[in-house]
Amino acid sequence: MKAILLAGGKGTRLRPLTLNTPKPIVPIFDRPFLRYQLDLLRQVPEIDEVVLSLNYQPRRIEEVFGDGSDLGLHIRYVVEPSPLGTGGGIRFAAGDRLGEPIVVFNGDVLTSVDLPAVIRLHRERQAKATIVLTPVENPAAYGLVETDADGNILAFLEKPSPDQIRCNTINAGIYVLEPDTLIDRVPKDMAYSIERGYFPSLIEDRARFVAHVDRGYWLDIGTPEKYRQAHRDIMDGRFPAPPFLGYAGQAIVAPSARVEEGAVIEGPCFIGSDATIKRGARVGPYSVIGSHCHIAEDAVIEDAILWPNTWVDNEARLTRMLAGRSCNFGRNVAIGGAILGDKSVVTDYSQTESREDP
Ligand code: GDD
Ligand code: MG
Repeated sequence: MKAILLAGGKGTRLRPLTLNTPKPIVPIFDRPFLRYQLDLLRQVPEIDEVVLSLNYQPRRIEEVFGDGSDLGLHIRYVVEPSPLGTGGGIRFAAGDRLGEPIVVFNGDVLTSVDLPAVIRLHRERQAKATIVLTPVENPAAYGLVETDADGNILAFLEKPSPDQIRCNTINAGIYVLEPDTLIDRVPKDMAYSIERGYFPSLIEDRARFVAHVDRGYWLDIGTPEKYRQAHRDIMDGRFPAPPFLGYAGQAIVAPSARVEEGAVIEGPCFIGSDATIKRGARVGPYSVIGSHCHIAEDAVIEDAILWPNTWVDNEARLTRMLAGRSCNFGRNVAIGGAILGDKSVVTDYSQTESREDP
């Protein structure tokens, strides 16, 4: 059985972080995001091929996962000539072969979905398409999906307006699809949305289109706030996953990191390989220090995610923020709430918040 991971979006809402790092491989601690999805897929023995459907910076992604043999998977890459949208991307990656159903994942969802149960339901119900739903507080940013009591889908509304919201179940971005329905409905080689075109067309034609409601963990990491939440949820054990599997709430320090005596490390937090934390520095809860970062004397990092190779000078204070690779924070800076791209330079004593704040 083939799995297609849709990983071609530009990740605009995560800019500037995604300018040089496509969303599917933004680091979650020290792992590229898609590793979590690949780990889920390799637990399903039936899935013998994973196709990454790419468009934006495809080489960067290919370099990371190669042919998948390190993970015990067979990974293939399909690059669209131009962005074909979600439906066009799936059709392009699936090819024209009829046969087994195809599993599809949006490449930005972190989930513990019971995939074998979804595939089972698809077969039992002899569905043309089965989609996973998850309940959320505010469905406005997603595809709203209404079902009847038997799990038949009655309505699919992408990015509903407030007056259209009548339930709280949304499209989790995980599907099992019959290839013949793709060939019949999705035009070849042109941009086409599975959410706005294919799904509504199934409902219109009364095709068997069913829902699997999953009550496990689910998060779309596509905005800075959700990206930070993914880290918090893994650190707290709300989503039990590496590197915090079995270590929820604790400080994880890579064996090659150097933490000097007199530095204070407060969990949950993560300190990556070859990072240096000098004496008097404090790494507070929910901080992620990427590999090869240097945190100088008396600097304070709190609830901040720093990608690899960043230098933080003496007495700098970074709180509730995100910084890309190879940034440089001068001494005594006080930066809070910022999202900074790769190679940002913040000069000595610069501040976005008063240094007197607690
Ligand atoms: N190959 C390819 N080509 N992939 C694409 C393209 C494209 O042209 N456009 C988007 N993608 C990929 C993105 O990389 C992402 O992994 C996935 O398709 C979904 O795109 P997003 O841009 O993240 O969509 P969204 O989050 O606004 O909405 C989608 O996901 C929600 C769940 O997170 C929809 O499927 C909603 O219905 C759903 O609720
Ligand atoms: Mg998304």
